[in-house]
Amino acid sequence: MAGRIPPEFIDELLTRTDIVDLVGTRIQLRKAGKDYQARCPFHDEKTPSFTVSPDKQFYHCFGCGAHGTAIGFLMEYDRLDFREAVDELAQRVGLTVPGATETGPAGPDHGPLYALHEQAAELYREQLRIHPDGRRAVDYLKGRGLTGEVAAHYGLGFAPADGRLLLSRLGASPSERERLLSCGLIYDEEGRRRDRFRDRIMFPIRDRRGRVIGFGGRLLGEGKPKYLNSPETPIFHKGRELYGLFEAQKANRKLDVVLVVEGYMDVIALAQFGVTNVVATLGTATTSEHLQLLSRTTPEIVFCFDGDRAGRAAAWKALESALPSATGRQSIRFLFLPDGEDPDTLMRAEGADAFRGRMTQAQPLSEFLFEQLCNQVDMSSIDGRARFSILAQPLIQAVPPGIYHDMLADRMAALAGLPMSPRRPVRRARTPTAHPTRPSLVAQAIALLLDHPELAAEVVDAPDDWRRSPSPGVAILAQLLETIAAHPTISKGGLVERWRDREHFVYLQRLSVAPFLQGIPPDGVAAEFIGALTRIGEDVLKEERRRPLTEPRTVVAGQGVAREGDRAQPEEEVGARTGGHRLE
Ligand code: UTP
Ligand code: MN
Repeated sequence: MAGRIPPEFIDELLTRTDIVDLVGTRIQLRKAGKDYQARCPFHDEKTPSFTVSPDKQFYHCFGCGAHGTAIGFLMEYDRLDFREAVDELAQRVGLTVPGATETGPAGPDHGPLYALHEQAAELYREQLRIHPDGRRAVDYLKGRGLTGEVAAHYGLGFAPADGRLLLSRLGASPSERERLLSCGLIYDEEGRRRDRFRDRIMFPIRDRRGRVIGFGGRLLGEGKPKYLNSPETPIFHKGRELYGLFEAQKANRKLDVVLVVEGYMDVIALAQFGVTNVVATLGTATTSEHLQLLSRTTPEIVFCFDGDRAGRAAAWKALESALPSATGRQSIRFLFLPDGEDPDTLMRAEGADAFRGRMTQAQPLSEFLFEQLCNQVDMSSIDGRARFSILAQPLIQAVPPGIYHDMLADRMAALAGLPMSPRRPVRRARTPTAHPTRPSLVAQAIALLLDHPELAAEVVDAPDDWRRSPSPGVAILAQLLETIAAHPTISKGGLVERWRDREHFVYLQRLSVAPFLQGIPPDGVAAEFIGALTRIGEDVLKEERRRPLTEPRTVVAGQGVAREGDRAQPEEEVGARTGGHRLE
């Protein structure tokens, strides 16, 4: 596992990165005052509300609320995870991500493994043209209806039968051979080394960023195994990757829906017919990791399976993996193909329009779920419906609490002929809504400080009663001030990134673009900030004046002094009223 990256490194990275440059490499920005604007890449809009601020090193869309730092932008736009985004930025500015921190060593450098796969893919591609058997391979692909264009787009190649290509071209030294072995590209057979892939059409498997991480290889005709895949390696995890995702993202800036199929050839055939939003699992069942990856990629998934028993069994597995993340926010549907067809054959038989039509008819997850369960029992008898409920219950329990869960539970109850399940009160906090009003004073102070870290200097001369406030945000505010004191030139982006791994990251990110900030003129910011702190301090003092009275007076209750709800009074007076004792 990669170690934690020191926050100082993230600061340095953000300081050296110009977010305007970075965003500018992805979308066209136009200067507007001291900021830059564009039409938002994260939602559809006609007039630009996406703003990038060079001062704050932060982007924010007033339309859809997207916001973040340069790291956040790469994560969202290029769909990278945190570590990948950091790597990418570091590469851009010529920094090396530090290898080790107090929490342990960073992951080993897999650069050489990626390079090796890239070279191997290149060699396989070349064989299609130059190897005496390359012609056979090309004819096979043509025979399956592939154009040269789509074959090139997916980087298809050919591994010759002699099993010496990679060994001889990439395995000159013992260390290189070691590397080939560790990636499963060569293997030992009775003391002799040979290439793993022989006499096969080669499908390079790329990760989301386009790096080749493994291969699938298909025989040119009948035989077993029809497909051979790279084994699990440090850079290749079948349960986590999806074939074609890189290409799908490249072909579609926004993926409104992604079709998940079973075969490499299916992905390529559909792409050839213009259906480019397709990915395939790598010969394994659909995992929850696949679903996580997809949930970051698209609001809608259509799983495509054969209509036969095996296809339905595979679909059920996918459904089970999907339940723990099913909230109704992302649509998950199932498309079953006629017996004996796969997406490749069907597309070639029917054409793209008919195929797209099928996609729109796919069955929602809930329907598939209940249909399968109902088919397993006799729903006309009490016994059958009881069994149905017993089968359904653990599945519905796997769905996270919320509206979708409740609706599934209701549907189950209706089908079983039970009374509706008791409804939990709807938790409002779960669905963030736009705040038309101002947030709490502490939240206001935090938002202002994030937006203007230089305000930290103002605090020095102001009263600090606010620090004794029991409000949970106060600790965060104090931590922010400490961080700024230690790093006086830190930007809003730098501050927010320091919270990425902490509990309140999302809260801070959201506050950092709180709408009320827009209403404050630049020369009023300091007064607002100090004003908020002062008012928090006043509340603290008020509370403290009240407390010494109410607490001890309960002790002396019975002497006829204390009454519930008495107003706060100065300490001396209490002493006098309780007969001269000082109350501690
Ligand atoms: P299929 O057997 O459905 O093959 O396997 P396909 O995609 O239709 O391939 P063609 O059309 O015959 O060429 C679907 C997927 O299952 C994995 C591969 O990932 C394949 O794309 N698979 C299949 C294997 O890993 N090994 C096998 O032997 C067969
Ligand atoms: Mn097929």
